[in-house]
Amino acid sequence: MAERTAELSSAAADQTAGRTTPKIRVAGISKHFAAGQKTLPALADVNLHVNAGEFVTLVGPSGCGKSTLFNIIVGLLAPDEGGALFIDGEFVPADHLLGRVAFMPQRDMLLPWRTVLDNAILAAEIDGVPRRTARQRAQAALDRFGLAGFGQHYPQQLSGGMRQRVALMRTFMFERDIMLLDEPFGALDALTRALMQRWLLQVWSEQRRTVLFITHDIDEAIFLGDRVLVMSARPGRIKADVGVPIARPRAPSVVTEPVFVDLKRRLLAAVEDESLKAFASMAETPDAGRGGAP
Ligand SMILES: Nc1ncnc2c1ncn2[C@@H]1O[C@H](COP(=O)(O)OP(=O)(O)OP(=O)(O)O)[C@@H](O)[C@H]1O
Ligand SMILES: [Mg+2]
Repeated sequence: MAERTAELSSAAADQTAGRTTPKIRVAGISKHFAAGQKTLPALADVNLHVNAGEFVTLVGPSGCGKSTLFNIIVGLLAPDEGGALFIDGEFVPADHLLGRVAFMPQRDMLLPWRTVLDNAILAAEIDGVPRRTARQRAQAALDRFGLAGFGQHYPQQLSGGMRQRVALMRTFMFERDIMLLDEPFGALDALTRALMQRWLLQVWSEQRRTVLFITHDIDEAIFLGDRVLVMSARPGRIKADVGVPIARPRAPSVVTEPVFVDLKRRLLAAVEDESLKAFASMAETPDAGRGGAP
């Protein structure tokens, strides 16, 4: 509680001093999962902030707790005791987080019995937008998401990339000023992915929502981000917070500029370091990575 009070007064002090209060702030969040008789530490004292209108990308080795962190921020998973989450400087208890943030989960979670249009409106519908209104909005947005003509198709009739675009459209239609996107372009081919990145930056620059974006792709993290956060091997914590000093709008050719290449080298080294640790700890864990050794 003392920590929360300190955080609250720091938000108030920020305002008095004319500094911006972060849109979202994660303070000392940890998470353990039960694993048989033992517990598995997934996150350890995660601290981060995202300012209003900022686009922050998050990279880290597989299994380091990125999706777990997102599930906590969106209110789907309760963190361990002790940490706190703040939105606009206000402490939000874990059981009050649901619905505060638009979220695209790592798996697309499309409902097979709903059409593209009806999948896209799902979150908006749950949010209370009348189905007819939501459908009209979705119909108008299909083109923008590269889904023109597919409104009446079902998920099983779509390619993986199209399914991800439907999930992305659903997240956008849930109109919140904070968006958490968990590897939204993971299943896209390189060309579609590059087009979607540029498209996302275009939409973001028009709407200026606050975005926290998970990716495994360092190029993508730099190209999209104002800052790149690097997570350590599990238990995940924020190991580095690196600004991207590249002006916007960013042309695709920016990836060949020295500042980009230099940043990429540094980030790759940091992530690789953590991936090696993650791999080593997997090898030390009985039954992990041994192909079922007796
Ligand atoms: N519900 C759960 N119960 C038990 N363990 C879990 C649960 N969810 C995640 N874990 C474990 O917590 C750790 C972190 O998982 P998480 O999915 O957050 O990683 P990640 O960084 O998103 O990985 P990836 O990059 O592969 O998506 C993993 O060891 C995972 O097995
Ligand atoms: Mg994940």
